[in-house]
Amino acid sequence: MLSKAVHMWTVTYVPAPGVWWLGCQNKDMDKAQNAPVSLISMLARFAEHWAPKKIAEINDYDVKIVKLHGEFTWHRHPDTDEFFLVIDGRLQIQLRDGDVTLTPDELFVVPKGVEHCPKADVETSVMLIEPRGVVNTGDAGGDLTAELADLT
Ligand code: NI
Repeated sequence: MLSKAVHMWTVTYVPAPGVWWLGCQNKDMDKAQNAPVSLISMLARFAEHWAPKKIAEINDYDVKIVKLHGEFTWHRHPDTDEFFLVIDGRLQIQLRDGDVTLTPDELFVVPKGVEHCPKADVETSVMLIEPRGVVNTGDAGGDLTAELADLT
């Protein structure tokens, strides 16, 4: 499991008269700075469906993973496109003008403002990339609206 970072302050003399440097050294041994993020490991950390988890950040975007089973709710995201990549399972993205079905290795971007309703007949794991703060149910709201958990 990841643990909280432990910081140790160090004071270093810089070879200039009277100049000392106060530095911060990261002593966390569990959460290495230069380490890959494993999708398999991240997926093993939760079981619930329709509750996205943040696993990385890119500028103002979050990279999330989510497990899906069953049918979601029709909704749209008025301000952003939505990126789906299937890791495992089978995802049907229902659209008003025709469905898109994704199997592992396949991705699809739902354009901004386009109404969609994800559906998975088997348990399916998906990666999502969206601007920070995007709500999973978009403009629909309701019981399936999930707080984003952070696994980073
Ligand atoms: Ni959506």
